[in-house]
Amino acid sequence: MTAPLTLRTGPAGSRIAGVGSYLPRRVVTNEEMCTMIDSSDEWIQQRTGIVERRWAGDDEPLSYMVTEASRKAIAQAQVDTDDIDAVIVASVTHLKATPALAPIVAAELGLKDPAAYDISAACAGFCYALAQADALIRTGSAKNVLIVGAERLSDLTDKSDRSTAFLFADGAGAAVVVGSDTPGVGPVVWGSDGTQADVITQTEDFRDAVPAGRMPTVYMDGKPVFRWATTFIADAARDILTQTGIEPEQLDVFIPHQANNRITDSMLRHLKLPDHVVVARSIKYFGNTSASSIPIAMDELLTSGEAHSGQTALIIGFGAGLVYAGQVVVLP
Ligand SMILES: CC(C)(COP(=O)(O)OP(=O)(O)OC[C@H]1O[C@@H](n2cnc3c(N)ncnc32)[C@H](O)[C@@H]1OP(=O)(O)O)[C@@H](O)C(=O)NCCC(=O)NCCS
Repeated sequence: MTAPLTLRTGPAGSRIAGVGSYLPRRVVTNEEMCTMIDSSDEWIQQRTGIVERRWAGDDEPLSYMVTEASRKAIAQAQVDTDDIDAVIVASVTHLKATPALAPIVAAELGLKDPAAYDISAACAGFCYALAQADALIRTGSAKNVLIVGAERLSDLTDKSDRSTAFLFADGAGAAVVVGSDTPGVGPVVWGSDGTQADVITQTEDFRDAVPAGRMPTVYMDGKPVFRWATTFIADAARDILTQTGIEPEQLDVFIPHQANNRITDSMLRHLKLPDHVVVARSIKYFGNTSASSIPIAMDELLTSGEAHSGQTALIIGFGAGLVYAGQVVVLP
C-alpha cells in the first residue's frame, strides 16, 4: 500500500507587508532622447505621457538595484531577514541564463537558505511573482516571500530606434509578502497569447548577436500591442474585480503596468472607475520599466501620500509573450 503523504497547509491568505523601489541616478529627458532619435518632446509626451526616464549606469547593475529596493521593502515589512524563506525575481534583462539572479541577491541580502528563483514574464512579471508568493504561502511552502521586479532595459534597447528608444527604462521594485488570516491578495487572473509572440521580441538571440559584437535589442510592433492592451487586457482588468467580488466603487487605487498613459486612459474609460480612484502615472518620470513598473508606482504613490496603507488597489501587468496577470491587493 502506498504510504500516505503528509501535506503542509498555510494561512488563509497573504498580504503585502512592505514595498520598496530603486531608481537609477541618471535622468534622461525627452530633450536628450531627441539627440538620439528623430522625435520631439511634444510627440513623446502626447503619445506616451513620458517626460523623462532613468537609465542605470555601470555602477548600478541589476543585482544592486534589486538589493536596494529589497532592503527598503524588508524594512517597511518589519520582517527579520532570517524569516524570509523564498525569493522570486522577475526580470527579462538578467543577461545570464545561469545562475539565476534570485540566489545571488538573496546571499547579498544575508538571507538564510531561502528558495530562490527567477521568472520571465516581461511586464506581467511582478503580478506573476505575487501570484506565486500568495500560493506558496497559502499552501505552507513558504512563510515570507520577497518578490522583485527589476530591469535594465537600456541594455537591450536600440537607442536609435524611434519606435522603442523613448519608451523603455531601468529600475527595480520589491515587496515582501507574508501570511495573513485576512486576505490582502486576491485571486490572480492571468493568461497568455503566444500567437502574438512576435509583436514584442528580441531582434535576434544572443548566440547570433554576441559573436558578431552586437547585443540583441527589443523590437516592438506598437499598434497590435496597443490594440490588445486596450481591449483584451481592459476586459481582464474588469474580470479581476468580478472574481475578487469588488465593485469599482469599492476600489481606491488603480496601478496598471506603466506602459503608456494612453493605454491607462483607455482602460479607465473601459472600467468606468469612479473619480475618487487614484491612478498611477509614474510613467511620466520613469518610463516603461517592464516588471518593475507596478511596484515602483505602488511605492511612489505610498511615499507621496497619494495612496495609503490599507487601501484597495487593482494591479495588472501585461507585455511580451504576450502575457498578463493581475490581482486586487490591500496596500501595505
Ligand atoms: C509606440 C507608439 C507610441 C507609437 O504610436 P503610433 O501612433 O502607433 O505610431 P506610428 O508608428 O503609427 O506612427 C505615427 C506617426 O508618428 C511618427 N512617429 C513614429 N515614431 C515617432 C517618434 N518616436 N517620434 C516622432 N514621430 C514618430 C510616424 O512616422 C508616423 O508619422 P506619419 O503619420 O507622418 O506617417 C504606440 O504604438 C503605442 O503606444 N503602442 C503601445 C506600446 C506599448 O505600450 N508597449 C509596451 C507594452 S509592454
